[in-house]
Amino acid sequence: MDYKLAAPCHFGLESVVKFELQRIGAADIAASDGKVTFSGDERIIARANIRLATAERVRIVILESYTKSFPDLIEAVDGIDWGDYIGRDDAFQVKGSSLDSDLTSIPKLQATIKKSAAMYLCNRHNMTACPETGPMHQIEFTLRKNNLSVYIDTSGEGLHKRGYRRNSNAAPIKETLASGIIDLARIKRAGAVTDPFCGSGTILIESIYKAMNIAPGLHRNFAAEKWNNFPQEIWKEEREAAKADINTDVDFHAYGFDYDPECVQLTLDNTKKAGVQKFVTAKNADIKNFKQPDGVIICNPPYGERLLELREAEKLYTVMGERFAADREHPAFIISPHEEFEKFFGKKAAKKRKLYNGMMKCNLYMYY
Ligand SMILES: C[S@@+](CC[C@H](N)C(=O)[O-])C[C@H]1O[C@@H](n2cnc3c(N)ncnc32)[C@H](O)[C@@H]1O
Repeated sequence: MDYKLAAPCHFGLESVVKFELQRIGAADIAASDGKVTFSGDERIIARANIRLATAERVRIVILESYTKSFPDLIEAVDGIDWGDYIGRDDAFQVKGSSLDSDLTSIPKLQATIKKSAAMYLCNRHNMTACPETGPMHQIEFTLRKNNLSVYIDTSGEGLHKRGYRRNSNAAPIKETLASGIIDLARIKRAGAVTDPFCGSGTILIESIYKAMNIAPGLHRNFAAEKWNNFPQEIWKEEREAAKADINTDVDFHAYGFDYDPECVQLTLDNTKKAGVQKFVTAKNADIKNFKQPDGVIICNPPYGERLLELREAEKLYTVMGERFAADREHPAFIISPHEEFEKFFGKKAAKKRKLYNGMMKCNLYMYY
């Protein structure tokens, strides 16, 4: 069966996700703010979940409708062929959000959608109640300016959960955002990447994944794997294909530095967990003593939420400007929410790109 699908992503990474989808053979790819829609069958759903490095999840789009009132909502959701997605015994729950729309009560929206699915299944299977003893189907909705979208999530845990990152107190960058920045930095198979503020090692690990073409979802499970209407062998085949595509013949190295020895240890632990430790060197070092190895710098330095910390962060940006060559031979890609980053760094970026780290508006300052 062919589905309309949607991959939500960080605002600013839509073109990167689009490129990833082209590479995996998805069709009808179209980017809009914070998401990329595409189409494909069960195999594409499995492939997208296993391979997409920069999207947050993979959802099946089951309804798109203009909805201003509860009668509108009921009419629209009652038109869904719920049985195409949810089996007789399957469990299902609804969550979602409403912004700038007439219908604002989330519990009422949830209850209406859940009731529609339950009534459909009861009628179809001649039951008085849904047993919900089968695999979970998470129904999600977004209502934006009265435009309703209803989805079924195929991913389960967000795709940023690769399974390699242990508890971390290092203000880690999300894996999907790190991967998107790495794509924008166009790292090569032969080369090196350095993160002078490595924290938990996310940028290093994601860079090696990219250089070796390791599918980030290879070692985790997805919600749709448990579904009875999805052929199980597809997941196995797609995992085998992703494994076969790993490139072990790479001449790539990742260097991490952090002034906190606990972060250095965390980086080493995480790179081991990710199975890429032989490509990583992590050392304890303050930025003021930083000497750039060859290759590209990618980092998210501390940004300082409170005023005092902000002043500290600004001083750090100045030190970075003194220690980074930030030129064609030594490119640097730095994500920061500080609007005046370039002033403190002491050099204008060749290019700036707006990226959102969650709700926080940032810029990727690109020096190359
Ligand atoms: C925002 S976190 C980076 C998180 C990292 N990208 C990750 O995914 O875990 C900033 C890191 O910079 C480190 N740091 C702060 N000041 C530093 C300095 N002067 N020299 C080196 N590292 C520093 C902190 O210990 C922290 O781990």
